[in-house]
Amino acid sequence: MEKQIKAMREKIEQAAAAIQDSKEMYQLRKQYLDNKSGQISALMKNMRDLAPEERPAFGKIVNELKTWALDFFTSQDARLKAAELEKKNAAEQIDVTMPAAPHSAGALHPNTLIANELIDIFAGMGFTVFEGPEIENDYYNFTALNTPKDHPARDMQDTFYVSPELLLRTQTSAGQIRVMENTKPPIKILSPGKVFRSDDDATHSPMFSQMEGLVVDKGITLCDLQGMLDVFAQNVFGENVKTRLRPSYFPFTEPSVEVDVSCFSCGGCGCRLCKDTGWIEVLGAGMVNRKVLENCGIDPDVYTGFAFGMGIERIAMLKYGIPNIKMLFESDTRVLSQFSE
Ligand code: DAH
Repeated sequence: MEKQIKAMREKIEQAAAAIQDSKEMYQLRKQYLDNKSGQISALMKNMRDLAPEERPAFGKIVNELKTWALDFFTSQDARLKAAELEKKNAAEQIDVTMPAAPHSAGALHPNTLIANELIDIFAGMGFTVFEGPEIENDYYNFTALNTPKDHPARDMQDTFYVSPELLLRTQTSAGQIRVMENTKPPIKILSPGKVFRSDDDATHSPMFSQMEGLVVDKGITLCDLQGMLDVFAQNVFGENVKTRLRPSYFPFTEPSVEVDVSCFSCGGCGCRLCKDTGWIEVLGAGMVNRKVLENCGIDPDVYTGFAFGMGIERIAMLKYGIPNIKMLFESDTRVLSQFSE
């Protein structure tokens, strides 16, 4: 009997030595110690077959075996769990001296770069920034700007109406009225923002951005406009660039002008960019129409003013040589990563 017990111990030890996994060890433990099916428990049951005088001695050695097995499996379990923990820790170890994985940083969008540049230039001449709402009412966007309903100039801009009275502003000029209604001259503001028109091709987009400028004071003339635009053109396109005013029409300015800059690509001799004219159109401007000043409660016999409005995407496209306005709205980082301050 003792031999049988000894053999079982050795078998357990051998089997345990081959096991490297705590779950497998648990199975082995069950195989011997499970109350119902365990081999040691089965030995106890065998006691019934023995003569009564043999039973105490037999019970004692089986109990000893059981106590030994319990201890043995507890220590085996601790050994395997410790090894497993060590393995897990080793796998999770972080080398803090390793260089971090590189990640590319974002940058300002070309539109933002141009808007910031324009604000910097005009802030240097004393302008402050006013931002009007993108959903405007008909009065600010058109009527107060001397473009009443049925005025043919409304056809110059295809408008998205939200309701009969509300629309997506077609021009940042709407901000001029909001400023003049609330501020006494002298006024010197820039108004950047998104505008919306039903217009879509390589150089037009239903949503684009404008930068409006407005100066109202005593004695303001067209020369002041051209002087400030010279500063703008030389800063944005290069110091040798000149400006030229051509007569034009806008309902809210009189006289109205179209402003060209001499071609910064060919210096004015004629090239593809300026379509061989030597000049590139960059913005619309003019002297604020008397009627517009009156609409805002400013006496046109005392004050005069000039205004201008330019497309920010157009300036960005010219300055950076971007052929299609959609490239500015597609968020393709291969395009956008080429521009920086
Ligand atoms: N609002 C005009 C447009 O969107 C641009 C413009 C022209 C603005 C003349 C002005 C201006 O302030 O004086 O086409």
